[in-house]
Amino acid sequence: MRLYRDLAGWFHLLTAPADYADEAANCREALASACAGDAATLLELGAGGGNNASHLKRWFACTLTDRSPEMLAQSRAINPECEHVRGDMRTLRLGRAFDLVFVHDAVSYLTTLDDLRATAATAFTHLRPGGAALFAPDYTRESFRPSTDHGGHDGPDGRALRYLEWVRDADPDDSRYEVDMVYLLRTPDGAVRSVHDHCEEGLFTEAEWLAALRGAGFAARPWPALPEDAAAGQRLFLCQRPAAEA
Ligand SMILES: C[S@@+](CC[C@H](N)C(=O)[O-])C[C@H]1O[C@@H](n2cnc3c(N)ncnc32)[C@H](O)[C@@H]1O
Repeated sequence: MRLYRDLAGWFHLLTAPADYADEAANCREALASACAGDAATLLELGAGGGNNASHLKRWFACTLTDRSPEMLAQSRAINPECEHVRGDMRTLRLGRAFDLVFVHDAVSYLTTLDDLRATAATAFTHLRPGGAALFAPDYTRESFRPSTDHGGHDGPDGRALRYLEWVRDADPDDSRYEVDMVYLLRTPDGAVRSVHDHCEEGLFTEAEWLAALRGAGFAARPWPALPEDAAAGQRLFLCQRPAAEA
């Protein structure tokens, strides 16, 4: 998406860090409940603009990864104390283990089961035995509903953004759905331009999710999303890398 490349500088006007406090607290509770022993270090895959991380860093030493250098720059700006590393969640190998792995809505950009399995393996590989992982797709196949949404924010620098989002599934028999976004971008001189953006995201059944996660070696189960997020379609999958491995 252009939002993660040339328009990345507008990301925090589309979705602001302050809006993630409650969700981050729920994710912390989930991760802490599944982690055996101390939960001090957290690896995020697809950390984007670092909105969740801006809250999670109060509790954990966070290493934030994303495949987009432009998005890493946005996260660095609000999370300068966190380590940032460029990498794709399907192939990243840092050669060290963490207490926790978190994969928020970035996981929705995986559109094949092979990619989902590869990301589950990345998470498993980066966890110490007894560590916990949380995956937060925007939808499963069962929770998907076509929708429209709008929002945006005014920035402190005279810029402002408003958006319209259109979510639909052109082919209910494949593992993808389509998202079209229109951004209205206002610059400090008052000029407003519009930009159309488009992406495809992945849809897997809950059974496919659990099979991919268990196939990587995890003990995996659903965890309740916040009511408002669950109503919008979000599902959470909480995993533990077994403390004693055969
Ligand atoms: C909506 S943003 C994530 C925002 C994030 N949840 C936050 O709290 O700010 C989605 C991010 O997923 C990243 N992404 C998509 N596919 C990826 C992949 N295969 N590996 C790593 N990052 C990926 C994009 O570059 C983008 O930054």
